[in-house]
Amino acid sequence: MKKRKNIITVAIDSPAAAGAGTQAKLISKHYNLFYLDTGKIYRYIGNLKLKNKKNFSYNLIKREIKNLKLRDLNNKNLLFNEVAVSASKVAQDKKIREIVHKFQQECAYNPPLKYKGSVLDGRDIITIQVKDAMFKFYITANLEVRARRRFKEFKSLNKKITYNEVLKTLRNRDKSDKKRKYGPLKKTKDSILINTSKLSKKACFKKIKMIIDNKLIN
Ligand code: C5P
Repeated sequence: MKKRKNIITVAIDSPAAAGAGTQAKLISKHYNLFYLDTGKIYRYIGNLKLKNKKNFSYNLIKREIKNLKLRDLNNKNLLFNEVAVSASKVAQDKKIREIVHKFQQECAYNPPLKYKGSVLDGRDIITIQVKDAMFKFYITANLEVRARRRFKEFKSLNKKITYNEVLKTLRNRDKSDKKRKYGPLKKTKDSILINTSKLSKKACFKKIKMIIDNKLIN
């Protein structure tokens, strides 16, 4: 694949609801980088599976990904818990992962020209998708903190779900995302650990900004 030269690439891996999306958006805004939430693509496919129980196939996924518009990823349904669970299941499939890789790497290495680079977040961004990223962050937080945050988000979306259900789903997703055979979530040695459990969004971004600025200036 041809890669645009002299761009800033930021790769973030994290378990669900650790605050990676929030930080990725702040990074993209501050440094004028194209942002792709790669989890949304698996959610899109997970949702496709829920809607097409009978004719869900690799060909259907290929067609959908080929015609995928970024605005399709803003669909509010993709935020639902059942879609996240379905996403985590389809994400275990090697062939499905291969179908979405090209799309994700295009976004990372050839972002639209109006951007100075890209920031991607997900589970296998540092380990597989953008191994040579200029900046690598592993963002995490403890399970209860993540469950509380996600529960609050669901409440603001008027979703009927209990805290315990959210906690259980996150625990199961962590397990399947870390233990799966293809593209499991793990922290690489060369990535910087950011634990957001006790940090505000602002404090967390300040930390990340310092690391990025330090390297960009030198
Ligand atoms: O990040 P988010 O919670 O939206 O991701 C939904 C699911 O998609 C995850 O639980 C994970 O199984 C899968 N995923 C993945 N690889 C990525 C991003 C997400 O397998 N790069």
